[in-house]
Formats: sequence, structure tokens, C-alpha cells
Amino acid sequence: MLALEVREKLRQEIKQKGLKPRLAVVLVGDNEASQIYVRNKRKAAEDIELECEVHHLPAESTFEQVADLVKSLNANPKVNGIIVQMPLPQHLHSDKILRLIDERKDVDGFGLHNAGLLMQNQPSAMVAATPKGVLEMLRSTGIQLAGKHAVIIGRSNIVGRPLAALLLNQDCTVTVVHTLTKNIAEITKQADIVVAACGCPKLVKASWVKDGAVVIDVGINRLDNHLCGDVDFDEVAPKAAFISPVPGGVGPMTIAMLLENTVEACEQQMKGAK
Ligand code: GUN
Repeated sequence: MLALEVREKLRQEIKQKGLKPRLAVVLVGDNEASQIYVRNKRKAAEDIELECEVHHLPAESTFEQVADLVKSLNANPKVNGIIVQMPLPQHLHSDKILRLIDERKDVDGFGLHNAGLLMQNQPSAMVAATPKGVLEMLRSTGIQLAGKHAVIIGRSNIVGRPLAALLLNQDCTVTVVHTLTKNIAEITKQADIVVAACGCPKLVKASWVKDGAVVIDVGINRLDNHLCGDVDFDEVAPKAAFISPVPGGVGPMTIAMLLENTVEACEQQMKGAK
């Protein structure tokens, strides 16, 4: 499995280079899914000897309290990477919080600096973990990306927008469709690559994809007490050249990419300190 291979590579790198990478996770409130994601991130980190400290604040924390925590993590030389788990309670203005993270420690790549570097195809950009994981999965299929038509369903700052930039940087022709797009199925049917990242359970049907398309499912939804993606897997799988499963597809890759960003940030910061 790809995510495990990446984690094994990182474990070796940490050992061989004598790195002491440390990730700080800020979790505010009691969102059940967020708590599970954070638990999985911590477990995966500790598994490769990457230290992970979780700062769990109550839902009613003020902007100043969260901001002060982020600033203290920025100032702590032992911390190489900082993430603030999304979504935040509404009163906290996530955009303003994310902008406080030191760009060198912004291992989620959600800040303006890294998002801007990605938009301008600069290799120094810290790329958001989920889009980076999607690219890694596409690469693993062996498909040549240049010139392919990629259709992304969803335009979030976490997935759709950065993924559009990332695939454009790979010379794909990129279309982003969203809730107000007319005739979405007509557009996805033209795609060589379909990435579903809209949070709608089993939205993508067999009639939405052409034969031989590569389909990546970023969705994680709870439906009738089981997890499913944004793609109707059973319907679409027979048509697709490759389809990623949910659970066990993009999710583990996202975590692996977050750890990779943290190890890279640690190395960069060590170089900077010399
Ligand atoms: N919420 C959903 N995905 C993510 C992610 O990749 N990072 C953070 N911080 N929050 C998320």
C-alpha cells in the first residue's frame, strides 16, 4: 500500500539523518470526525518516530486564546510543523487563524504564502496534504498527466483549489465544477481523470464517467452507519481504469503527505539554524 511505503521511507530518513521532527496539532472543540482524524495523525506520526503534540482546546475558546497558542508554537524551536484541524468553531474565523502560522511551519500549506507559491508553480511551496496525496496516487497509476483533462468536483481551499493548481502545474487541462455548475455529468464524462471532493455521498455515478477514466475519491461520508466516498464505488469501478477506495484510499495518503511535509520542514529548519 502506497501510504505505508511513504511512511516507511520517512521512518528510514528520520533515523538515518538523525532528525527530531515534531508536529503540533491544534484541535478546537469536539467535532467527532476531527477527533478521529487527529487521533489517526498522531498514531501515524508516532509510528515513524515523529513526535506529535496535540493541543485540544474547548469549543468556546476565544480567537485570542487560539491565536496565542499558534504564536507560542511559532516561537518554539522544537516544533517544526503546525496544523490547525479544520473545521474550527464558526466564531474563530479560520482564515485569520491560518494566516498566523509561520510559513516555514505551515505543513498543511493552507496559509497565503504557500498557497500563493503553489499557484505560481514554485517548487518551494509546501503543498496541502490531500492534493499532494491525490497527485501521488495518480503518479502511482503510471498515467501520464501532461495533456490529460482532469475534472475536479469541489472548490474548497483544502482540496479543490490547491489540487487545481497542482494538476495545472503538471500540465493537465483542469476543469473545476461545483454546486452551481450546470450539467456536471456532461463535463465529468469528458474527463480522463475525475477527482471527487465535494462531500456528497455516492454523487458520482457510472453514467458520469467515461470508460477507462481514472477516478480518485476524496470524500469521507457517513451513510446508514457506514463510510462511503463521493463516488458510487460499486457502479463506477467496472468502468474505471483505476479507482481509489473509501476508506483506505486518499485518507491514509493525506496523513503520509502531512508527515512528509513535517520531515521536510524539519530539515529546512535545521539547515536554516546552521
Ligand atoms: N480537515 C479536513 N482535512 C484537513 C486537513 O488536511 N488538515 C486540517 N488541518 N484540517 C482538515
